[in-house]
Amino acid sequence: MIVDIINKKRLGKELSYREIDKFFNGYLDGSIKDYQMSSLLMAICINGMTDEEVFALTKVFIDSGDVLDFSHLITNMVDKHSTGGIGDKTTLIIGPIVAACGVPVVKMSGRGLGYTGGTIDKLESIPGYNTKLTEEKIIKQIKDIGIVLTGQTGDLAPMDKVIYALRDVTGTVSSIPLIASSIMSKKIAGGADKIIIDIKVGNGALLNTKKDAKELSRLMKAIGKIYQKEVITVISDMNTPLGYAIGNALEVKEAMDVLRGRETDSNLYDLCIALSSQMIQMGKNVDEKTAIKEVFEALNKGRAYEKFLELVKAQGGDISKLTVSDKKKYIKAPKNGTINKINALALGKLSVSLGAGRVSKEDKIDFGVGIKLNKLEGEEVKKGDTLATIYYNKDFEMPSIDDIYTIE
Ligand code: URA
Repeated sequence: MIVDIINKKRLGKELSYREIDKFFNGYLDGSIKDYQMSSLLMAICINGMTDEEVFALTKVFIDSGDVLDFSHLITNMVDKHSTGGIGDKTTLIIGPIVAACGVPVVKMSGRGLGYTGGTIDKLESIPGYNTKLTEEKIIKQIKDIGIVLTGQTGDLAPMDKVIYALRDVTGTVSSIPLIASSIMSKKIAGGADKIIIDIKVGNGALLNTKKDAKELSRLMKAIGKIYQKEVITVISDMNTPLGYAIGNALEVKEAMDVLRGRETDSNLYDLCIALSSQMIQMGKNVDEKTAIKEVFEALNKGRAYEKFLELVKAQGGDISKLTVSDKKKYIKAPKNGTINKINALALGKLSVSLGAGRVSKEDKIDFGVGIKLNKLEGEEVKKGDTLATIYYNKDFEMPSIDDIYTIE
């Protein structure tokens, strides 16, 4: 009985492979309903899973679709994934840099989860950009330009796709076993040989403590070992938003600024340099110094930016039509001082209330809304200075400035 499986997990007992397989596949074929799956997900969230259960769930996710194999095209395929954060547009920057350095990038990204944004939503803010490439198109594009940024194909871990959407709206996103199996199943099914995971920690991330991040890292490495994949993890801060833009089209614009060498947030810039050089080291088997040199060359000679434009064009996007809302409100500094803290979570919540993220599964994203930080952490401000610009289209509740900024 289905309810027995839910009860078993509610009591913190270990589910067998057969039980996990039956329950999750039942959800995929419609015999298990949203409310039953939500209940099991919540029990997992609260009681956790053993490693064996996580390995079983990862296998069920992988087996729900195809496993891609690009080994005839790419030796040493490297993939990167972020657990998600507020303003995290690193994939849009790193992908073109790495591809411009000659390491092929095939990245299948996801949508926003909780208050954190998703690369696919960001890419879809570019009018015409196709995030649903078929396997044949992916192969052709890799041969032609060496980079693909697309959504999970319908056949790739389809189970994760439906569970991910349900987790987003049932308060079950921040479970370490669920995150580990979700990410690793997609990376393995996507054909990666080497995987770099950027684990975000802080109030604007799915995980709030370093201890949780370390546990996720351990679990993902353990899954990688079973499938003979090299997994490297980086733990990075997400108490403050990454970069100055939050919201889909705004983040694409910021990514383009970074690729064009315009001034940006040093946290975002440094993380992009670190992650892309790590991917180049893994992809080309070169040392760190050589990889970093290649990254700077690709940026400084404009090759990374050119690669981004090539990518957008190849996937049908028209970057000249990227728009942000022209309705704006401003957050002004209430006093003189230094910005000691900008609260990522408060801004994530604000961006979702503007329509940049989803509250329910069916919600449509408003790509043009979001927040642009005019001042970043550490900057001095005078009373009345514009701290942030809010791009909106519908009424929203303005949060208290004190919830977002600590100015001292
Ligand atoms: N990213 C994913 O792909 N899955 C998760 O569960 C969390 C972040």
